Formats: sequence, structure tokens, C-alpha cells
Amino acid sequence: MSRNFDVIVVGSGIAGLSFALQVASEGRRVAILTKKRRADSNTNYAQGGIACVTAQNDDFQSHLSDTTEAGDGLCDEEVVREIINEGPQRVQQLVETGVHFSQLEDGTPSLGREGGHSRRRVLHVKDITGKAIESALLRATARNKNITVLEHFFAIDLITQKKLTKSGFAVRNDGNKVVGLYALNVLKGRVEVFKASVIMLTTGGIGQVYQFTTNPDIATGDGIAMAYRAGVEVANMEFVQFHPTSLYSSTDERFLISEAVRGEGAILRNADRRPFMKHHHTLADLAPRDIVARAIDSEMKKSGARNLWLDITGHPEEDLQHRFPNIFEVCARHGINMANDLIPVVPAAHYLCGGVRTNLSAETSLPGLYACGEVACTGLHGANRLASNSLLEAVVMAHRGSDAVVGYLKNYESETAIPPEWVDGDAEDSDERVVLSHNWDELRRTMWDYVGIVRTTKRLERARARIQNLSNEIYDYYWNFKVEPRLLELRNMIQVADLIVQCALQRKESRGLHYTLDYPEKSPEARNTTVLNREF
Ligand code: SIN
Repeated sequence: MSRNFDVIVVGSGIAGLSFALQVASEGRRVAILTKKRRADSNTNYAQGGIACVTAQNDDFQSHLSDTTEAGDGLCDEEVVREIINEGPQRVQQLVETGVHFSQLEDGTPSLGREGGHSRRRVLHVKDITGKAIESALLRATARNKNITVLEHFFAIDLITQKKLTKSGFAVRNDGNKVVGLYALNVLKGRVEVFKASVIMLTTGGIGQVYQFTTNPDIATGDGIAMAYRAGVEVANMEFVQFHPTSLYSSTDERFLISEAVRGEGAILRNADRRPFMKHHHTLADLAPRDIVARAIDSEMKKSGARNLWLDITGHPEEDLQHRFPNIFEVCARHGINMANDLIPVVPAAHYLCGGVRTNLSAETSLPGLYACGEVACTGLHGANRLASNSLLEAVVMAHRGSDAVVGYLKNYESETAIPPEWVDGDAEDSDERVVLSHNWDELRRTMWDYVGIVRTTKRLERARARIQNLSNEIYDYYWNFKVEPRLLELRNMIQVADLIVQCALQRKESRGLHYTLDYPEKSPEARNTTVLNREF
């Protein structure tokens, strides 16, 4: 038995919800599958905001130059232009959906500044922008009769025409396309078959692949791994952005201290409490993120310190509490009063600039499969994302993707075959579960130690060998035991880690977020890296 929808959206962050609302408004039946609860998304953790040209003293050209400057030669200018130019319309749509961006006393938007931006242009809702957007979109989704939200459904693998043909199930043979997916109904512990003409991947990022990350638990790269296994083109995976300032703690947890804090005047201090960013870039503490993260890494290595310091002392406590209520409260819980104390900070994995390659209509290389948000690689971010460009990309691409999907569905001829039922390994309560927890930790440590801010070919090769071992072990486990979320996540994380290392090894230069001691210079020619599943 299969469940049938016109469109399945995998993931429930800003990209998935915006897209679902738009497609549903065209009368299409949409299911949103989310592996946990609907509000568990990366979006919820976005603090800074949404970069968009709205101010009198701003212009599209300046936002474009800041984006391409940060992107270090790899941004696709047409993509940058289109996304930036469409921003104000999509922001207006968010306002109409019920997002109340922070305003100044005169009623104009309060605009934040972040690294790499030549002026203030980041719309925000205090320091909880993602949460505010997510809540407004979820309220709108709940009101829409064409949208079914299925919580605790973990999408495992795509079903394609090619797979059906290979296994003798296809009725028509009109080229490859996506026709559905398998998903684990987590609460019932069984795998279900979903049929759909279109699948939109909006599964967010990959931060959990690293030991230290600002991302929530759900960020395990599921969409990228699923797409790659189906033979879809994945690109630029080596460009993992490390946020310079997460709150240091003695556990693995890393809470984001928004760049907007530096935008309001905070400065970084080294182990001797001295400012150092002016030695690294003319924009000092507001330099693009790759430069700040590398400078911190170098200061930490020089001094052996376990953290550096962020200093916004001297600002009135009331102002800080008003502008950064969330950060202020979390710091207070750690015994830090931002107005009086230095904040201990370290870099942490934050955002993936590569992903499933798409065009400006969110189409991937597989007909019927679309991708949007952090899971996708559109060409906007190039080798290093400009701060707060990601929410912008998500809303613009969700809209463009919905236009493309509506067109695709008009000409779609449905595959009438019923995909085969899922066949599971039958061993249940494994006392081998220690393999999952051990491999989980080993993978994340390997990535942090060998595939971090500063890389070498030797370290990348070491990582590749270890990832290969982990992959073999998990492959065995996967086929022998009943699937469960932790196993599915680990399988995806191992896949994604391997893709990051493959792309990093391909890039024989240092550019943007990829810095290697073996090739410290930039090649004269800027090129994307691509990986394809050759076994598919
Ligand atoms: C931040 O608030 O510093 C993060 C914003 C972003 O990653 O775009």
C-alpha cells in the first residue's frame, strides 16, 4: 500500500514551508515529511536575520559585490543578481504571512550589520529571527487544507523510474525521474511507501557531521545523501563554513553568538585579551567569516588557548538585553553578563555552501526532484556564504521552485506501477548498537580533527580511510538490522562526510572556506567541484 501526493516536501524549515504554502495555493496536494516535530529545523536556530536591500542608502549592486567578494570567485553572478533582486518581494510576502521584523522608533526597519556586508542590511526579529519566521510559516501551514504535515517520518531513499525499471516494476519507460520515496514511520517502527510526482528536498545542513557545531541535532545531511545515492549531482561540498563565534563550553555543545553582536561593536580578543583582527583584514572584526575563523584558529594554535574572547562590555545592559534577549539569557545561564564580562568563544561548523546542485528553478539533475535551502547548491554562495544570505536564498528559491513545479505537474504523466514494499533486515534489538554510538563519535571527531578550518592532503587522506571503514561497518549493519533513526542518520552522515572529503581532495588550491597548507595559493581559474555516484 502506498500513500499518494502530488508533491512531497522533505523538511520543515523556512524553505520547505514557504514552498509548500506556495504550491498548495495552486491547489496541489502536498505532504511535508519531517523526521522529528515540525518546528525542529535549522531555521529555528537562525539568529542574525535575512539580508535584503531595503534601506535608502543601500542598492542591489552593493549587495551583489559583497556577496561575490565573500564568495571568492565562485559565485554565479546571474544567480546572485536574480536572488538579490527578488529579495524585497519575498520579504514583503513574509511580512504578509505575519513576520514582524524589528523596527526603529520611527517605524523604519532595524537593520543589523554582519561580516562582509559593506552596510547595514540585515532584517531581523531581535536575535530570534529564524524562530519568528518558522512560527509564522507554521501557523499559515496549519490553516492550509491542501497541506498534510507528517511528523516523525524519516525519508530514507528516493524511488526513481530507473530503479523501478531495473527491478522490473516500471510500467512506462520514458526516461529517469523521481516517483516517490520510502520513509520510516518512526512511531510505528515500519517503513512506508510514498508515491509523488515531485519531491522537494529542504532538509537543511550537515553540521552534525562535525564534533562541534552550531546546528541542531537534525542537521545530518539527509537530503544530500539521499540525492547522491539516487545518482543526482552534488557540488562544492568542501566549502563548510565555520562560524567564528560559538559560546565555549566544556561539553560538545556550541551555542551560536551571532555575528550581529560584532555588528553592534563587539571585538575579538586573543588569549592575552588583545584585539587582533585588524592585523588580518581591513574590515577587522567584520571581515568575511572564512577570514575571521582562520584568524581565530591561528591565534588559538599559537597560544594553545582553548578559547578566545568576544568583548561587548561597556554597552548598556538594557540595550544588549533588548537587542539580543536570547543570547543575553543563554550567556547569563553560563554565569556571563555580556555587559560586564568577556564571552569565551570558539569556531564551530555552521553552514554548508555546497550541496545538491540546482538551477534557478530549484531543479536538480533528476527530473521531478527539486532542492531548496541549505541542502541545495545554487551558485549564490560560491566558496564562502555572505552572512544572512541563506534565509534570503531559501525564500526566493522556494518561490521560484514552486513556479517550476506547477509547470512540471501540468505535463506530468503518472507512473502507474506501485513501487515494491520495503524489505528490512530482520534482526531487532541489536546488542551491536554500540557500533552506532562508537561510529557516530568517531566520524564527528575525525571530521573535526582532519577536515576542519585548515586542511592538508595527508589529513584528508587519513579521514577518507577512516570514513571508508565506518562506511563498510554501517553498510553491514544497515542490511542486517531493522532501520531506526540513529542508523539512518549515521548512514547519511558517513555519506556526506565522504563527499566533503572527495571534493576537498579535488580542490588543489586554497579558496574561500577551503584552506589547505599543501596548496596555500589560489588557482588562476575558479572552478566548482562536482561529485556523482558512479555506481548508480
Ligand atoms: C549569525 O547570526 O551570526 C549567523 C547568521 C548566518 O549564519 O547567516
